[in-house]
Amino acid sequence: MMNFKKQTYILAVALLGAPGLALAQSGESTYKQVCAACHGAGVLNAPKFGDKAKWAPLIAEGQVTLTAHGYVGVRGMPAKGGNPNLSIEGFADALVYMVNNSGGNWKSPDVKTIAAINKEVEARKAGLNKKQ
Ligand code: HEC
Repeated sequence: MMNFKKQTYILAVALLGAPGLALAQSGESTYKQVCAACHGAGVLNAPKFGDKAKWAPLIAEGQVTLTAHGYVGVRGMPAKGGNPNLSIEGFADALVYMVNNSGGNWKSPDVKTIAAINKEVEARKAGLNKKQ
C-alpha cells in the first residue's frame, strides 16, 4: 500500500514536470523552457535576464501592469511568451523568477493580484482591438 502511494506520487511529480503540461510548474522551469530563448541572450532586444538597468524601469511599472502587458504581448514580445498553453499564473511566475534575478523582489501573485492582472489583460486587449 505504502509503495503504491509512493509510486503514484512519483508519477504525479513526473507528469507535472513534463514539457507542454504547464500545470504548477515553477517559475524557473517555465523561464528556462519558454522565456530564456529570447531573454537569456537579449534576442530582438529583449530585456536580458540579470540586466538590472534594463529591468529597473519595467519593474517600476508594477507587477500587475508589467505581467499583463507582457502576457498580451508588446512589440517584439509575443503574447504568452509565444506558448499558447501558458496560463497567466505560469507566465506571472516565470516573470517573478526573471525579475527577482534582475534587481527586483516580487512574490508569486496571490488570487487578488491574479484577478487584477486578468482585469488589466482584458483592458489591454480592448485597447489594442480599438486601434485595429
Ligand atoms: C520570441 C522572443 C521572446 C520570448 C520567447 C519571450 N520574450 Fe519577453 N520580450 C521579448 C522582446 C523582444 C521584448 C522587448 C519588447 C520591446 O520593448 O520592444 C520582451 C519584453 C518583455 C517584457 C517587458 C514588456 C513591456 O511592457 O515592456 C516582459 C515582462 C517579458 N518580455 C516577459 C517574458 C516572459 C515572462 C517570457 C516567458 C514566459 C517571455 N517574455 C518570452 C521577446 C521574447
